[in-house]
Amino acid sequence: MGKTRIRGIGRCIPSNVVTNDDLSGRMDTTDEWIQQRSGIQQRHHIDSDCGAADLGAEAAREALERAKTRLEEIDCIVFATLSPDYDMPSSACVLQSRLGLTGVPAFDVRNQCTGFLYGLTVADSFLQSGRYGKVLLVGGEIHSTGLDFTDRGRQVAVLFGDGAGAAVLERGPSDDRGILSTHLHSEGSFAEKLWLEAAASRGETRLDEEMIAGEDPKIFPKMQGRYVFKHAVTRSIEAIREAVEANGYSVDDIDLLVPHQANLRINQAVAMTLEFPEEKVVNNIQGLGNTTAATIPLALYDALEDGRLTEGQLVCLVAFGAGFTWASALLRW
Ligand code: ACO
Repeated sequence: MGKTRIRGIGRCIPSNVVTNDDLSGRMDTTDEWIQQRSGIQQRHHIDSDCGAADLGAEAAREALERAKTRLEEIDCIVFATLSPDYDMPSSACVLQSRLGLTGVPAFDVRNQCTGFLYGLTVADSFLQSGRYGKVLLVGGEIHSTGLDFTDRGRQVAVLFGDGAGAAVLERGPSDDRGILSTHLHSEGSFAEKLWLEAAASRGETRLDEEMIAGEDPKIFPKMQGRYVFKHAVTRSIEAIREAVEANGYSVDDIDLLVPHQANLRINQAVAMTLEFPEEKVVNNIQGLGNTTAATIPLALYDALEDGRLTEGQLVCLVAFGAGFTWASALLRW
């Protein structure tokens, strides 16, 4: 039986560009600070009534086209997101309806920045067990409607952007190409280092005035930035090493490293520690910001487009995010 392959990738990025200077008009920040600390130059925000599933549906249509796959051939939808359209039902179900696909299973993976790699692992398991033949995996996020664009929220608000990436997955022929392995980890004791407290089922009420308008609003994501930064570097390095060692390779054998896009400095620190050439690292955070579950398919899309990603290459995907969670995957493209 052949390994799982990514047959086609699609994307959707809202056309509305928000520069660092745009943000400095809304809060106490500067282009210089944002670029120096994170590498981000701009991000895209939706400017109309639109949900993560709408972006996901557009990305999915392109992925299907590129995979030369008809919609009716898809027999499972997995949607990775931390910004679902609704608390319920899943964005996967909303997307399914947008696409006009009926009856097949559709569900969300809520695992923040590692969501795409957790989803990839679920999809790979379904395909390798023979349960499903073609899986549509989408990572889609709309952050811009849930950030604190006042001075109080500046540490987090400048980092995130909206967007979606989608991939059509299926088993390939029996050769050495495809997903070689995936590796998943979590450490829930760090949950409060990077979290969004409300609305939530915990407590007497899910949402009240105090949570929204009190001195310390709970409706925006909060992060202990430096703490998260250090863990992201350490865990990403571990996960990359784990992926290559599990397959008898070394870091030097990797042709292309596609890391999650939380901060350009994180990815530079990872490459430097591993003595891995920066030109083999795919980064898109400069133009898109952190699009969480969409970052990896969006980066793969770019690398395919500009010719950096080609057949036969050894590709390592790695991500770190809230939870904490971290994950990697090794693929022969
Ligand atoms: N503009 C200007 N100044 C700012 C801004 C801003 N946007 N944000 C914070 N500052 C100020 C702070 O108030 C602080 O000022 P002070 O020294 O007077 O107190 C100063 O800049 C330094 O702040 P730090 O937070 O210590 O800055 P740091 O160098 O750590 O950079 C950053 C912050 C970019 C957030 C970084 O810590 C980071 O990237 N962390 C990791 C992000 C990450 O990995 N996230 C995980 C994925 S997200 C997910 O899973 C949902």
